[in-house]
Amino acid sequence: MYIIMLGAPGAGKGTQADILSQEMNLPHIASGDLFRQALEKKTRVGLLAKSYMDKGELVPDEITIKMILERISRPDCALGCILDGFPRTLHQAKVLDKALKERGKSIDKAIYIEVPDEELVKRLSGRWLCRICQTPYHVTSSPPKTSGKCDKCGGELYQRSDDREETVKERLNVFFAQTAPILDYYEKQSKLIRVNGNLGIQGVAGEIISALKGRMSP
Ligand code: AP5
Ligand code: MG
Ligand code: ZN
Repeated sequence: MYIIMLGAPGAGKGTQADILSQEMNLPHIASGDLFRQALEKKTRVGLLAKSYMDKGELVPDEITIKMILERISRPDCALGCILDGFPRTLHQAKVLDKALKERGKSIDKAIYIEVPDEELVKRLSGRWLCRICQTPYHVTSSPPKTSGKCDKCGGELYQRSDDREETVKERLNVFFAQTAPILDYYEKQSKLIRVNGNLGIQGVAGEIISALKGRMSP
């Protein structure tokens, strides 16, 4: 199964993709995480992406598309994957469909996690992230067991530089202007599942899993 997680910055795409990835035994492929990992390694793509990410703008399509198509062509994605943060423009969505079609595959479902703007801002300002495995934590809603350390790998937790208030505003604008139009694209293909993301983490996960089970049964 190929599943896309859609939602504004802070909606919980990464959090829910991690849960689904374990539940469905499929890899979690996150474009933002791949850019941040490239930046940690100081690669050309990582440094270039940073200049856009710090402003809250999208990284140009050609760079993003090349990186994701390369990643999903690896053997671990042969049976599917959970895509988080990609596609994010109509052009990316169309290129992805074409690339999957050439392999005899297609997107099964796109899950849109809906959260009110004021809640998004609270989530992003309290978020801490593992520098190694990118697992997101939150000071109040999902704190790590040991302060400053990742539960899964012991990695150091840090705050993203694009979670500053000004950049968050720009990321929200970009989401509504450039990414929201793809909701319609998946809705027209009857692939869109809208989920109330304004519940606790487990509550949202329950909604997603039951919606997927409901829609996937014959
Ligand atoms: P990306 O890394 O994808 O960031 P984003 O879309 O802004 O989304 P976030 O990762 O901030 O939020 P999330 O929805 O994953 O929320 P999370 O689960 O962490 O992209 C970053 C940048 O990279 C972009 O701005 C762009 O420059 C570039 N980029 C990436 N993809 C691109 C593409 N395809 N094309 C072009 N450029 C691209 O949760 C947030 C917080 O809330 C956490 O602290 C979490 O613990 C907490 N939380 C989660 N769920 C709940 C809940 N239900 N209740 C309470 N708290 C919760
Ligand atoms: Mg994320
Ligand atoms: Zn970790």
